[in-house]
Amino acid sequence: MKIVVLTGAGISAESGLATFRDADGLWEGHDPMRVATPEAFAAEPDLVHRFYDQRRARLARVEPNAAHRALARLEASVGDDLLVVTQNVDDLHERAGSERVHHMHGRLRSAWCVACGERHDWEETLGDRPPCPACGSASLRPDVVWFGEIPYGMDAVEEALWECDLFVAIGTSGQVYPAAAFVHWARHDTLELNLDASSTSSDFAQARRGPATELVPAWVDELLGSA
Ligand code: APR
Repeated sequence: MKIVVLTGAGISAESGLATFRDADGLWEGHDPMRVATPEAFAAEPDLVHRFYDQRRARLARVEPNAAHRALARLEASVGDDLLVVTQNVDDLHERAGSERVHHMHGRLRSAWCVACGERHDWEETLGDRPPCPACGSASLRPDVVWFGEIPYGMDAVEEALWECDLFVAIGTSGQVYPAAAFVHWARHDTLELNLDASSTSSDFAQARRGPATELVPAWVDELLGSA
């Protein structure tokens, strides 16, 4: 059985990373149009760098949770039949042991040089304008997909959704496209695992409510017949 799992900020909430649209979410404290668009970066680069430097520092202080680990366990069992497509820019899937992870919105621990185009694994700050390790230019930006930019690798994602037997969405509000349309690109079975109802809950064949650290391990146990 080929499975595509889409994850959103909700899967990392219990690790201590804020979601975007919940009560204490990132977009409560920040205007996304001032910190997450290419126009904002051109107009106020210090503000944008500060926003991502703080998130990168926070990421270093958190750990994957039981939901991330359950997906890594599933991958260990079904191998290439599982693809995790994440909207998240954190690396908690990989730190939990998942390898088949596609970051459609980029990665917080990656810097992209807009002068030479090179990308670099990056754990430190960018606000102090460090030189690009490849070309030396002080032109590094966070390697994340901002509003108005095209998500990474959509052709491969669309193909995987077309071919999968089961599509599962975990911890996402279904408010941002193209991810919110994936349930319509999948042709067969669909399942939503989310704390609250999302904007697309009624489009799923089945929806389960609860925290990801409970729902995801239970679903993986069920799938692997160890429930
Ligand atoms: N377990 C399961 N689901 C949870 C949990 C939890 N512990 N906590 C919150 N959720 C659910 C919420 O109910 C909500 O539906 O996670 C969802 C989080 O929604 P958003 O904050 O909108 O995050 P997401 O859907 O990932 O945002 C999509 O929007 O801002 C952009 O690029 C950013 O990738 C992001 C995209």
